[in-house]
Amino acid sequence: MSLVAERAQGVADGRRARAGERLLACEGLFHLYMLEGREVVALQGVDFGVDWGEMVALLGPSGSGKSTMLAILGGLERPSAGRVVLDGIDVSRLSEAQLTVLRRRRLGFVWQGAARNLLPHASAWENLDLPMVLAGLPAARRRKRAKVLLDAVDLGAQRGKPIRALSGGEQQRLAVAVALANNPPLLLADEPTSQLDRANVRRVVELLKEARDDLGTTVVVVTHDAEVAAAMDRTVTIRDGRVSAEGRGGAEYAVVGPTGSLHLPAHALDVLPPGARVVVEVEGDQVVLKPTDGAIPPGEGGS
Ligand SMILES: Nc1ncnc2c1ncn2[C@@H]1O[C@H](COP(=O)(O)OP(=O)(O)OP(=O)(O)O)[C@@H](O)[C@H]1O
Ligand SMILES: [Mg+2]
Repeated sequence: MSLVAERAQGVADGRRARAGERLLACEGLFHLYMLEGREVVALQGVDFGVDWGEMVALLGPSGSGKSTMLAILGGLERPSAGRVVLDGIDVSRLSEAQLTVLRRRRLGFVWQGAARNLLPHASAWENLDLPMVLAGLPAARRRKRAKVLLDAVDLGAQRGKPIRALSGGEQQRLAVAVALANNPPLLLADEPTSQLDRANVRRVVELLKEARDDLGTTVVVVTHDAEVAAAMDRTVTIRDGRVSAEGRGGAEYAVVGPTGSLHLPAHALDVLPPGARVVVEVEGDQVVLKPTDGAIPPGEGGS
C-alpha cells in the first residue's frame, strides 16, 4: 500500500522539510458550553502544540474535553478564551467564510463514529469525490486521487457500493481516506478505531502512519486504545479540561497546570489517595510530597 500520488510528492517533501517547526499552537484555551441556562466548563486553560509531521494521541477519561479540543483545533468551535494558531494563521480571528476555506484545504477530520463522516446512500467513490469537488479539484485529478486512496485503504473493489453495504471496519477506513482526500497538512481524528476489531485497529494505525510517511501529514488522534496511543510519537492526556500529563517513548510526565495544580498518576494514588493531606517541601531543585497521617494538627496550618 502506498498513498504517494505523483503530484503529492513535492508537497510531502515541503512538509518534511519543516519537521521540528510548530504547525499548531494553542494557548490558554478555555471553553464553556451553555446547557439549559447553566455553564459547563469543558476546557480550562489548555496549552498544546504540535510540530510538522508529528503524530500525537490525545488521551483522557470520558468528558475530559478531548472532542471539544479537536473541534476548536479544527475551527468548528470558537474557544471562549485563548487562541489557536495554525501554520502562522490565528484561527480565532478568521471569518466564517475563511474558516470554511481553511477546513476544506488544510484540515482533514474523522469524527467520532464512522457513519457521521459518510453519506449513507452515496457510494464509497462518491464519498471520496465530494470533498475534492468542494475544494474545486479538476475531474482528472479527483479520479486519480480517489483511486490511490481507495487502493490504499483496500476498498478498490468496493468503490461502487453504498456506505450501508460496507462493514464497520471498511467504513472507518473509508472515513480516514475521505479525510485525506484533499491531502491536508493536518489530520484530526476522534476515536477512529472505536468499535473495530484488532485487525482493523492495526490497519487504521498503519494508514495514519502511511499518511505521515508518504504525504507528510501531521496527525492528532483522540483515542482510548492503548495500541493506537503507543503507535504515536507523543501522548497528551487531558483531565478536567486541562493537560494533566504528556508521554513520549514510554515515559510519562505529569504537567503542572496553569494554576499550579498537578494530577497525580494512578500509581501515586496508592500512597496519596484523594483527600490526603501532604506537606510540600522544596529541597533544592526537588519538590517532595510528604503524606501526613490523618488530620492536620491544630495550630500547624489549616482551619
Ligand atoms: N454541546 C455541548 N453542550 C453542553 N455541554 C457539552 C457539549 N459538548 C460537550 N459538553 C460537555 O463538555 C465536557 C467535555 O466534553 P467532550 O465531548 O469534549 O469530552 P470527551 O473527552 O470528548 O469525552 P468522550 O471520551 O466521552 O468522547 C463534558 O462535560 C461534556 O458533557
Ligand atoms: Mg469525545
